[in-house]
Amino acid sequence: NNNIKIAPSILSADFSRLADEIEKIEQAGADLVHIDIMDGHFVPNLTFGPPVVAAIRKVTKLPFDVHLMVSNPQNLITPFVQAGADIITVHAETAPHLHRLIQTIKEHGKQAGVSLNPSTPLTIVEEVLSDVDMILIMSVNPGFGGQQFIPNAANKITRLKAMLDERNLRVNIEVDGGINAATARQVVAAGANILVAGSAVYGASDPAQAIRAIRGLD
Ligand code: DX5
Ligand code: ZN
Repeated sequence: NNNIKIAPSILSADFSRLADEIEKIEQAGADLVHIDIMDGHFVPNLTFGPPVVAAIRKVTKLPFDVHLMVSNPQNLITPFVQAGADIITVHAETAPHLHRLIQTIKEHGKQAGVSLNPSTPLTIVEEVLSDVDMILIMSVNPGFGGQQFIPNAANKITRLKAMLDERNLRVNIEVDGGINAATARQVVAAGANILVAGSAVYGASDPAQAIRAIRGLD
């Protein structure tokens, strides 16, 4: 399916060779680079900050899909914009003033996404659906790569797609966690159009083949 975008997560890359690892997925047919930002507070793990994102900005023209798994995301919007983010996604659970945060991202001329943990109901984004560019449905509890897909995510995507269709909104639906060729088929059928995949791409001996399989072409 060519309307599907694949966003490999560099969380599963070899961090000692980040530039090569990004070049590898670009050549393998990736559409976006998914960058997982973790603060050791909202999620129990630490990854990259703005200086690392700025450094890798020089090695690819692919859009940067920055997934902020951090408390107080409002303090990090400008630094990640300056570092080269194209899409900035915040977690609804971290943002009591979600509407304001979305406006801040859009004022910077960037695409705004809102992510929901597996246990967070869709109603939390109902009032901002016409303001966002993307909703990110987590299909694992955020914090680590290589976890198993939580099956309820497919049903949640179906319900989100219906909410969007009801309002005639064209908002991207991204899904993140445990995506491989088999789970990709389920979430695409449910309405997802941007698929994040970490271990399924970086763990494959042939990343191009893995991306084709997730896209549903094999
Ligand atoms: C999880 C991250 C994901 C992760 C996905 O907290 O948000 O982007 O890298 O990894 P896989 O595809 O291995 O589940
Ligand atoms: Zn992610």
